[in-house]
Amino acid sequence: MPPTPEAVQTALQSLMDPLTGKGLACDVPIRGIHVENGGVRLAVEVGYPVGGGLCAELEARIRAHLIDLLGAREVAVRVTGKIAAHVAQPGATRRLPEVRNLIVVASGKGGVGKSATAVNLALALATEGARVGLLDADIYGPSLPGMLGLSGQHPAREDGRMRPLMACGVQVMSIGFLAEENAPIIWRSPLVTRALFQLLYETRWDDLDYLLADMPPGTGDTQLSLAQQAPITGAVMVTTPQDVALSDVRRGMRMFEKVGVRILGVVENMGFYVCPHCGREEAIFGAGGGERLCAEFGVDCLGKLPLDARIRAAGDNGKPIVIDAPEAPVTRIYRDIARQIAGKIAALPRDMRARFPPIAIEPAPQKPGKP
Ligand SMILES: Nc1ncnc2c1ncn2[C@@H]1O[C@H](COP(=O)(O)OP(=O)(O)OP(=O)(O)O)[C@@H](O)[C@H]1O
Ligand SMILES: [Mg+2]
Repeated sequence: MPPTPEAVQTALQSLMDPLTGKGLACDVPIRGIHVENGGVRLAVEVGYPVGGGLCAELEARIRAHLIDLLGAREVAVRVTGKIAAHVAQPGATRRLPEVRNLIVVASGKGGVGKSATAVNLALALATEGARVGLLDADIYGPSLPGMLGLSGQHPAREDGRMRPLMACGVQVMSIGFLAEENAPIIWRSPLVTRALFQLLYETRWDDLDYLLADMPPGTGDTQLSLAQQAPITGAVMVTTPQDVALSDVRRGMRMFEKVGVRILGVVENMGFYVCPHCGREEAIFGAGGGERLCAEFGVDCLGKLPLDARIRAAGDNGKPIVIDAPEAPVTRIYRDIARQIAGKIAALPRDMRARFPPIAIEPAPQKPGKP
């Protein structure tokens, strides 16, 4: 007997979405299931980007599942990705109408690789086909212009707002693009916070699926203000595995927990070194630190990145490794982490407010002056 559209729908419920962990038909719109002569034609829309080979992978899974379960003779399936806005922490007061999902890449600890992780994850998400932005939230030590080969460039202004600069298809904003006389080395924290909010809200982000904010180290006023007020879909925590880093990262995670920002998971960076001669893995800073942290907070370990000289060199040369070496093993790790993040976000409840006209943003704070 040929399958019915209802049977197709039911069959898809038992096919797990590899990124969200839910049945594919649970909250994914399945459009136009047509059954003709024992063949099935359907379109599936998932909540994450499906470029970079994922689309073909999903289509093959769906096809095999329907043939297996229903004995469908032929299955013509088209998978598309559409990223919705998902709920932020309850206390967030200031909307960001041009950004569907703000993700902070944070740690609490300095020098663990937040910026390298944020840049490579942003580029990996863009490779998957998402519209992505990168905000350098490190006002004291902006590193994104150098890492992306944008040093010395300045944003254009339009209607009193700044246009982000572009790097490999990603929209980028950093205080490093603004006039040198504003060098904020001696700003007090209220001015730094003000400058950060100005960068976030006075940038003309162009219709972003994800905006990744590369957070400064520490858990000071600036980090707390952002975590309280900006609508954050989730935080990605970066750590190295040694105990001294973990205690700072723990403090960072507690700060997010306190203000209700969900932690999407932990990235363990620079935990091991692969000998280029014999291929042996060496746990330089001790093993298992990231996992202990994940267990303590009940969150997932999104991935482990080795200490790899090419990550540093590519960052120093302004061409991050995800772009510079698309086939490198570390690029695959970044891309896998990016997919997990996109899947975790897709599984969250949607922010229904986004369907209504955007609420006016509060007037932007005054421009940072000299102290
Ligand atoms: N997995 C890695 N392998 C090799 N080098 C790395 C790796 N991750 C980051 N680095 C390098 O380590 C240095 C510090 O990384 P990064 O600037 O990303 O850290 P951070 O946490 O953002 O630092 P800060 O707290 O100062 O903002 C950089 O030179 C970067 O290129
Ligand atoms: Mg940094």
